[in-house]
Formats: sequence, structure tokens, C-alpha cells
Amino acid sequence: MSTAIGFIGGGNMARCLVGGLIADGIQPGDIRVADPNQQQLDDIRLSFGTHASLSNREVAEKSDIVVLAVKPQNIQAVSAELAPTIARDRPLVISIAAGVRLAHLGKWLGTSTAIVRAMPNTPALVKSGATALVANRHVSTEQRNQAESIMRAVGMTLWLEDESLMDAVTALSGSGPAYFFFVMEALEQAGEQLGLPRETARLLTLQTAFGAAKMALETTTDSHLLRERVTSPGGTTERAVNVLKDNRLEQIFTEALTAARDRSVELANILGNE
Ligand SMILES: NC(=O)c1ccc[n+]([C@@H]2O[C@H](COP(=O)([O-])OP(=O)(O)OC[C@H]3O[C@@H](n4cnc5c(N)ncnc54)[C@H](OP(=O)(O)O)[C@@H]3O)[C@@H](O)[C@H]2O)c1
Repeated sequence: MSTAIGFIGGGNMARCLVGGLIADGIQPGDIRVADPNQQQLDDIRLSFGTHASLSNREVAEKSDIVVLAVKPQNIQAVSAELAPTIARDRPLVISIAAGVRLAHLGKWLGTSTAIVRAMPNTPALVKSGATALVANRHVSTEQRNQAESIMRAVGMTLWLEDESLMDAVTALSGSGPAYFFFVMEALEQAGEQLGLPRETARLLTLQTAFGAAKMALETTTDSHLLRERVTSPGGTTERAVNVLKDNRLEQIFTEALTAARDRSVELANILGNE
């Protein structure tokens, strides 16, 4: 028997997951999406051929897996609305809301609800996301596999056993795309200052970032060794890397990630206390 998957919230991330699941072979008829915006629903129905409904409850009632894909500030209200349905039908709930902890979800949905918390990042929108997952103790092995295959539709996945590490994940991969955009912006500007036309600097930067990530992903060699291999003694790369070291690049990233991690803890506390 096929598994019915219901999305509560039909925004960017839900659409992306729906597209990924259908590309992976899930039948559109096994997917339902609920959203308050009729136009958004019509668009989803037209684009993907899934069911679409204005009623969160209807979608939850007909689903074995309920994916909460609303903004974090709407999660508590949506959970309260769905709690009776979820207590009765006991689906697996997957929350992709940033910063909303399992304990708070359990408090709002019912403490024995099987819940997986997922933290994707923005490249999920181009099917190259990095998603960390953590499950509460009510989630079975089969449900873990189901949650993992849903999130794998938009990129790579990995499991955390300790939920408190989600704040470090938020600091690294959640906010990470912005760090790389910042580095790319800086390289483009530096290239321009050395006389390259803007578009040339942009293309060389992007392809170099892509190529470096691809090389690193396709080998088991760690990043340190990869860097050493392309840093010949006395060469150009060594000169540049020495400037980065002298300017404390590693400490700067440690400080940046610590600041992001601490803010993630603060925000999760605020969301849980609402
Ligand atoms: N986008 C990312 O890269 C990313 C990365 C990591 C995590 N996330 C998480 O993914 C979740 C969704 O993000 P998103 O970017 O997809 O947001 P989004 O585009 O704003 O989608 C949220 C959708 O939920 C709808 N909605 C609002 N209230 C609702 C309700 N009571 N019941 C049902 N649907 C409701 C919204 O409709 P209206 O627009 O009409 O209000 C909107 O269509 C967030 O919790 C976010 O933290 C996103």
C-alpha cells in the first residue's frame, strides 16, 4: 500500500519537496497540500497534479505522514489545530520549521506523537540541500526511513542523535549558504580590483566554488589535505593563504559560527515560550 504524504503549508519549501518526491517516483495522487491561499493551491494542483485543500485538518486526516511546512511563528497555531486529528490517527509528523524543538512540538501536538525535526537549508530549493534530522523516541525505524527519503528528495541528509546539536547545524549549514555567498562576493570584488571585467570575475568565482565543492565531495580526502595539495611551496596560492592565515580566517569562522549558534538557541527559546 502506498504512503499518503500531507503538507501543511504550500510555500517554497513544500513545493520543492513535492517536486522532488514526484521526480523520485511518488505518485502525485499520494500527496496532499494544505494552504490558506487558493491561488497557491490552484498553482500546486496544476504544476504537480497533487490534491490541494484549504483545510489543514482534511489533509492531516488523509495522510500517514504530515509535513509541517509553515513558518516557525505559525507552527504553534497549526499544531493546536491539528492536535486532535493527530492524537486520533497517529501519523508521523515531520517539522521543517527552523528553531522549533521536539519538546515544544510534542507539547503542542501530544507528547506521544512520533515527530521528526528536520533542518534543511536554502539550496534545497535547487535540490542540493543539506538536511539534518532528529527523531523523538516515538519514531519507529520504518518512520525514520520514511522521513529520510522525503528529505532526500531535496539533497543529502544526515541524522543527529542529540537534538541540542541542531543549533550548531543551524549555524553551519542553515546559515552557511550566506557565508559562501559572502566569500564569493568578496572574491568577485577582489578580482575586479585586479582588473578583471565584472562578469569574468563572477563566472570564475562561481565555477571555482562549484568545482572545489565537487572535488571535495567526490573524494574521501579531507579539506586540509586538499588545500595542501594545491598549495605549492613558494607559489601563488601559498602567498594568498598566508594572508588569510595572518588575518585569522579560522578564528573568524569560529567566532561567526558561535554567534550564530547562540542566536539559534535564543530564537528557539523565544519560539517555545510563545
Ligand atoms: N526556505 C528555506 O530555504 C528553508 C530552509 C530551512 C528551513 N525552512 C523552513 O521551512 C518552513 C517553510 O519555509 P518556506 O520558505 O517554504 O516558507 P513560505 O514560502 O512562506 O511557506 C509557508 C506557507 O505556509 C502557508 N501558511 C501560513 N499559515 C498557514 C496555516 N495556518 N496553515 C497552513 N498553511 C499556512 C503560507 O501561506 P501565506 O503565504 O498565504 O501566509 C505559505 O504558503 C519554515 O518553517 C522554515 O523555517 C525553510
